[in-house]
Amino acid sequence: MTSTKPEIDSMVGFEDARSVVTQAAGQEPAAAAPATDRAPVFEARDVSVYYSDFRAVTNVDLTINDNEITAFIGPSGCGKSTMLRTFNRMNDLIEGARMVGSLTYHGIDLYSDDVDPVAVRRRIGMVFQKPNPFPKSIYDNIAFGPRLAGTDENMDDIVERSLRGAGLWEEVKDRLKTSALGLSGGQQQRLCIARATAVNPDVLLMDEPCSALDPIATGRIEELMLEMKKDYTIVIVTHNMQQAARVSDRTAFFTAELDPNTDQRTGLLVEYDLTTTIFSQPADERTENYITGRFG
Ligand SMILES: Nc1ncnc2c1ncn2[C@@H]1O[C@H](COP(=O)(O)OP(=O)(O)OP(=O)(O)O)[C@@H](O)[C@H]1O
Ligand SMILES: [Mg+2]
Repeated sequence: MTSTKPEIDSMVGFEDARSVVTQAAGQEPAAAAPATDRAPVFEARDVSVYYSDFRAVTNVDLTINDNEITAFIGPSGCGKSTMLRTFNRMNDLIEGARMVGSLTYHGIDLYSDDVDPVAVRRRIGMVFQKPNPFPKSIYDNIAFGPRLAGTDENMDDIVERSLRGAGLWEEVKDRLKTSALGLSGGQQQRLCIARATAVNPDVLLMDEPCSALDPIATGRIEELMLEMKKDYTIVIVTHNMQQAARVSDRTAFFTAELDPNTDQRTGLLVEYDLTTTIFSQPADERTENYITGRFG
């Protein structure tokens, strides 16, 4: 795989999330994006993920579209993070983890033997729940990936562009050589987003990126995501349904159910649709129960 694109808080009630969707719909939100005018980035067909003998996720069919924000919601343990990690082969790093089924990225089999997982992770970046800057300067956090990739672009330019893109430049431009660990939590998370974008990825995977942040920092990340989706395809896992309603174009609701064959609970995708539909007229009773807080 080369580096060019084609190759590659809290739970809230249904009414809250629905009013967010309804208000957003009046303002021509991203959530109103029609189903047909976007190219697929990922196509998962019959994807199951195992940790040794345990089937954590079962038979997922899901298409993620270009320049959209897709939210994964569902109760703890239903496989959201597991599914997210299939998109950049992060599960490969977990001993005993394996995926079956088909998962393509821009039409290419992501799990083919000739695909380099390191190159995959450069194209498909990840931002985690807890901000995890390296114990290095702000500058070196951003420069780390491009240096490793052997970029010939001017490093100062990369650092400035990445920090501007993550809405952090003005706050840190005079302290680039100081430790990233001196930043606030929200700043650290934006730094991690800047770091992920410094290698020019195509996709950003975000696993509960705001769950360690206060509402103001969360709002900034959400604004940032909405700006960034013109350049990136974003998949976000969130437990905050208002957040899903505010930022995402499409929402996938997962749950965990007992698999009668194994007597173990396994994650499955219940419903996947436009966010407006999921929060206003879900097709499946399990989705409705979850978003109205009647789950469990
Ligand atoms: N490294 C692992 N080894 C073994 N089992 C795992 C591993 N990671 C996750 N699991 C199991 O797989 C299932 C799905 O976990 P996953 O972390 O994907 O759920 P989640 O929906 O992200 O949950 P949460 O909302 O709590 O983050 C759970 O039963 C979990 O215990
Ligand atoms: Mg998770």
